[in-house]
Amino acid sequence: MSRISRIKGFADMFPEESERYTFMEAQARRIFGVCGFREWRTPLLELTELFRRTIGDETDVVQKEMYTFVDAKGRSLSLRPEATAGIVRAYVQESCYERERVSRVFTCGPMFRHERPQKGRMRQFHQINCECLGDPSPMADAEMILMLLEFLKAIGIGKTVLKLNSLGCVACRPAYVERLGEFLAKVSGDLCPDCKRRAAANTMRVLDCKRPECRAVLERGPKMSDFQCADCRDHFGRVTRLLDAGGAAYETDPCLVRGLDYYCRTAFEVLSADIGAQSAVAGGGRYDGLVWSLNGPDIPGVGFACGLERLAMLMPPTASAVPDFHLLVLDEGLLEDGFALMQDLRGRGLSGVMNHEVSGFKGLMRQADRSGAWFCLLLGPDEAAAGAVTVKDMREGGQRTVPRENVYDILAGDKS
Ligand code: HAM
Repeated sequence: MSRISRIKGFADMFPEESERYTFMEAQARRIFGVCGFREWRTPLLELTELFRRTIGDETDVVQKEMYTFVDAKGRSLSLRPEATAGIVRAYVQESCYERERVSRVFTCGPMFRHERPQKGRMRQFHQINCECLGDPSPMADAEMILMLLEFLKAIGIGKTVLKLNSLGCVACRPAYVERLGEFLAKVSGDLCPDCKRRAAANTMRVLDCKRPECRAVLERGPKMSDFQCADCRDHFGRVTRLLDAGGAAYETDPCLVRGLDYYCRTAFEVLSADIGAQSAVAGGGRYDGLVWSLNGPDIPGVGFACGLERLAMLMPPTASAVPDFHLLVLDEGLLEDGFALMQDLRGRGLSGVMNHEVSGFKGLMRQADRSGAWFCLLLGPDEAAAGAVTVKDMREGGQRTVPRENVYDILAGDKS
């Protein structure tokens, strides 16, 4: 029988990697918690219709990237490709707006997109996602962005670029999209096949094309900023002023459009030059029509998500947790005695493991070395007879045999 391997685009995460994710999540909980955000957990699986209606039928995510299947009841279900749709569905379903005027939510977990895997692009990837529902003020946009930057700083990420754009709103965007469509129809012969297809189906996405020949054509095209209504202009102006006051560096980019359809007004991305082609480590923006599109009231929202796979590539190494002790019991008859000692130390907050079988001394010492523990504790017949334990300092060297009741104080004292 052949071995079973993991599927392409999915990763096994062993302790070193996993600990980086735990660290990022802990920093997110701390920083977002300070800003009044509370954690929600929504299902990984939702009705496909949810994503079609929110992310948009014409987006790549919905058209090509979802893991969709029909269940036994004939319903089309999809693994979530992002978290915002599920959060907003839960918000509407539980009428959260009746309980609080502004809901500040964060969530951490895996997302699924059937994209071509490459460095920084996985089919199962992890996001930390933040949403603020119920606040139309530009202060909410700026607060989200500043919070994101604070988070990136806390996990040791430097050298990123924040790009910002305003995508307009239902009042002013249609005129722009119409004009852009007319322009693209005229220059269609100079566009790549992807842009030609998008020009009809999802016009603004053409702005996102990275091919130099398309970029050169688009330079000559109409600009959203020339079509923006006074409210959108004012909103964006206030966001940028608040970011200036908050000391955030940013670039405005009139070609920044997002891959999901629900955005209006502020859109932003944080990019890094150090992780290859998939350079966006975070992205987000305002989505004032999203709650309404799920049959909720007309309630605004703004949020972002960061991709942990990409952040993990940029983070400085984090120190792994070092166990306090590795207990070596040197005689079969003392295993239960050793077990009680280990449980006592663990119960008092120290971390460590012991051997469950007694083998040669050299092999046991090798286990203690590999564990990386601060102290190796030796319990053999001599120690047992004297009610003692030998404490070997694995960092500084040296060892001493001490009464058993002193072991905790020695280990705990050296820790502090
Ligand atoms: P997004 O830009 O699609 O936005 O994804 C956010 C981040 O997730 C990206 O910047 C990237 O770091 C990471 N990411 C996306 N796809 C992959 C992948 N295949 N492999 C690895 N990382 C990936 C959203 O998902 C929106 N829901 C963000 C949002 C929240 N907007 C408002 N609220």
